[in-house]
Amino acid sequence: MLNKSIAVIGAGNMGTSLIRGILSAQLTAPKRIVASGPRLEKLARLKTEYGIAVTDDNRDAAKQADIIILCVKAAVIRSVLEQMHDVLHKDQFIISIAAGVTTASMEKVVGKNVPIVRAMPNIASTVGLGSTAVSFGKHVHEKQHDIAVKIFEAVGEVVVVGEHHLDAVTGLSGSGPAYIYMVIEALIDGGVKMGLPRDISTKLAIQTVLGSAKLVKESNVHPAILRDQVTTPGGTTINAIHELESHGLRSMLIDAVATATNRSKELSELINRH
Ligand SMILES: NC(=O)c1ccc[n+]([C@@H]2O[C@H](COP(=O)([O-])OP(=O)(O)OC[C@H]3O[C@@H](n4cnc5c(N)ncnc54)[C@H](OP(=O)(O)O)[C@@H]3O)[C@@H](O)[C@H]2O)c1
Repeated sequence: MLNKSIAVIGAGNMGTSLIRGILSAQLTAPKRIVASGPRLEKLARLKTEYGIAVTDDNRDAAKQADIIILCVKAAVIRSVLEQMHDVLHKDQFIISIAAGVTTASMEKVVGKNVPIVRAMPNIASTVGLGSTAVSFGKHVHEKQHDIAVKIFEAVGEVVVVGEHHLDAVTGLSGSGPAYIYMVIEALIDGGVKMGLPRDISTKLAIQTVLGSAKLVKESNVHPAILRDQVTTPGGTTINAIHELESHGLRSMLIDAVATATNRSKELSELINRH
């Protein structure tokens, strides 16, 4: 139990996942969470479902909070921080999940030595299996490190990285679910091409990805060794692996992560220009 009051500014996909995770990990009581957003009618559902407070006044939400979690789009981060600027103080701390917005640019807007944590979660946080990387701005204390990590552990796994690594994190785990959805979709179509009913093919493809990931994680064995273990000489799998290698599957995925990382850098430079 953190026993802190938390304001979640922007309760969309990610904000709602965090609220759900924080409550199910019992990090704080529902009545100590306030969600803020522009449309009260949308927030009313959260109030009913989770018993938290809601408001359409970001400033008011921030005023009463120990921890302020910014879950709005990067384009509005600056205006949201400016809006709450006069109520912020250095005994609170801010966690932002907005892609690309650096701690330095937020510190510049907020001032007053308010500690700022930047995190890059992913959409799997919605089902408690997120991957989040966190990095800390210059005013963040050790105790706040632990709190930030605990908050994201409530929705999955957490790594702590230097802020300069967050673009690569975005290219790997931030955008990664989209790559895996494409893999799943293609496997389903492969099964269908070979005559399997679509529902059966879907079930098998999803479980194959889920089970393979769980095995790598739980066995702690390198994926190349696990692959060798299921590859019979002259059998089906080695023939399929040859096919994948000749189409450059591994290079393609390495390039995808590199391209997304570079794009994240470019966008970040644009966002933090001012
Ligand atoms: N989705 C991901 O996979 C992912 C992964 C990592 C990081 N992120 C980051 O997480 C942030 C949120 O993403 P999301 O996918 O959760 O987006 P989202 O579902 O669109 O949520 C954004 C929320 O912010 C609200 N909002 C808009 N303007 C606001 C304002 N001025 N004050 C307070 N709330 C405001 C929106 O309300 P209305 O809908 O009523 O306008 C919406 O509920 C982004 O910065 C994104 O970069 C997302």
